Amino acid sequence: MSTPGPLFRPYDKLVKITVKGREVEVPDNNMILRALQFVAGDNIAYGRFCWNEECQYCRITYDMGEGTPSHTAISCKVLVKAGMRITQMDTELRYCLRDLPAPAENQKP
Ligand code: FES
Repeated sequence: MSTPGPLFRPYDKLVKITVKGREVEVPDNNMILRALQFVAGDNIAYGRFCWNEECQYCRITYDMGEGTPSHTAISCKVLVKAGMRITQMDTELRYCLRDLPAPAENQKP
């Protein structure tokens, strides 16, 4: 019988990304969906995610800052990058991030 590995891939630092207009810190060197589990632990764990590019419930739209092009991605297969701004999410992922606090006044876009 094997034991499960650690939840997160090894990382050297936390990187800042923006989700729902809120800046959060997540572990570098992890897929975006896994990195979001750092801030929404059980809600992501209990989400209906396949973690294998099939369900598409983790689909996001993101950019790398003001004036940069938007990309659509499957967040279980794309590595998180510092400065990412997740602008749209599939309903399931949005629901799993429901407890993420609204942006503070000084963080509103
Ligand atoms: S979790 Fe199913 S496609 Fe990403």
